[in-house]
Amino acid sequence: MQTQYWQYDVMKAIGVSPGKPGVKLIEKSEPARAEGEIKLEPLLVGICGTDREIISGYYGEAPPGEEFLTIGHESLCKVVEGQSNELKEGDLVVPTVRRSCGVCWSCLHGQSDMCFTGNFKERGIKGMDGYNTERVVELPEYIARVPDGLGDVAVLTEPMTIGEKAVYQCLELQKRVEWGWDCKEGLECKKALVLGTGPVGLLASLILRLKGFKVVAADRHDDSTRKASILNAAGIAHLNTSNTSIDEFAGSEGKFDIIIEATGDAVVGLDAIPSLSPNGIIALTGIPGGSQVYQMPAVQIMRSIVLNNLITVGIVNANISYFKMALQHMLEIESKFPGLLERLISSKFAVEEYSAAFSARGADVVKVVIDWRR
Ligand code: BGC
Repeated sequence: MQTQYWQYDVMKAIGVSPGKPGVKLIEKSEPARAEGEIKLEPLLVGICGTDREIISGYYGEAPPGEEFLTIGHESLCKVVEGQSNELKEGDLVVPTVRRSCGVCWSCLHGQSDMCFTGNFKERGIKGMDGYNTERVVELPEYIARVPDGLGDVAVLTEPMTIGEKAVYQCLELQKRVEWGWDCKEGLECKKALVLGTGPVGLLASLILRLKGFKVVAADRHDDSTRKASILNAAGIAHLNTSNTSIDEFAGSEGKFDIIIEATGDAVVGLDAIPSLSPNGIIALTGIPGGSQVYQMPAVQIMRSIVLNNLITVGIVNANISYFKMALQHMLEIESKFPGLLERLISSKFAVEEYSAAFSARGADVVKVVIDWRR
């Protein structure tokens, strides 16, 4: 039987010592809940590329004065203590990642994802413990309630918020063109390309489908993978770029109004720019590491951007409004494509299996989660 550490004010957590490669089970004190705060019990915690970067020692920052950072920023939790206007004990919830710098206008107005100072904190990433533990204390303003009927799939909310923010901001930016992408007179103006079929890419593709876009999602695999079958079930075309490059595809099938990059590969992202239609927008969401060198002639890329009124926008993090949007869109996806979101969770590991969970890889691995209920 699992030891109920929390009853003794000591909790299990999955921790890293930022800057040093490795991950291990650690112990931390259970946080005390102040007036107005909500105590949460993490149930499921997703793993993403940022976690792997932190574990490799390239990224991450421990809370001030501490050696270890509890990792995990994608979670599904249960309210165990405290309440607010929108939250009560027993509710399933998803808390956000970034916390206010306390100074800039964005942070002071609920938009810490657009912080001006850079002095924000991020749960499980930068200066603040994350969700791979037994108890967390949080302010209600950073917690979104999961609507009834979603359950476990709500652990996909955080990766989905990146797609929500990308699509929302592209649509807002396109208000510069009177008709946006609702083209009249026979022009086909709702074509989207998503680069990458990890959770962010798949979820962004689904959001674009809900918005009426004709979507192509690209990766380097054939049609036999779990990801390709998820796309197929939602009426999203799959492009295997090992056979046909984006450039060739756009040359024969036409260019794209929106491109969302979700690969973390800098060359893939920049190379796609000339495949945008006039007035098109590319949203870059991946955070590349390493030292890729870009070979494309600078003249070609700048001509393409200027002569076509293109926009290149970076998208990082998401505030609570995108979490609420994502949860509503999940309900829509569930009703249109029942059971589809569940297929994005490719495996659940018990806490003690954390090492296997962080090293799970392959074309059929989509979202790996750690199950704190086991
Ligand atoms: C997270 C974001 C975070 C970013 C940079 C991503 O993996 O989803 O919430 O802002 O990493 O730290």
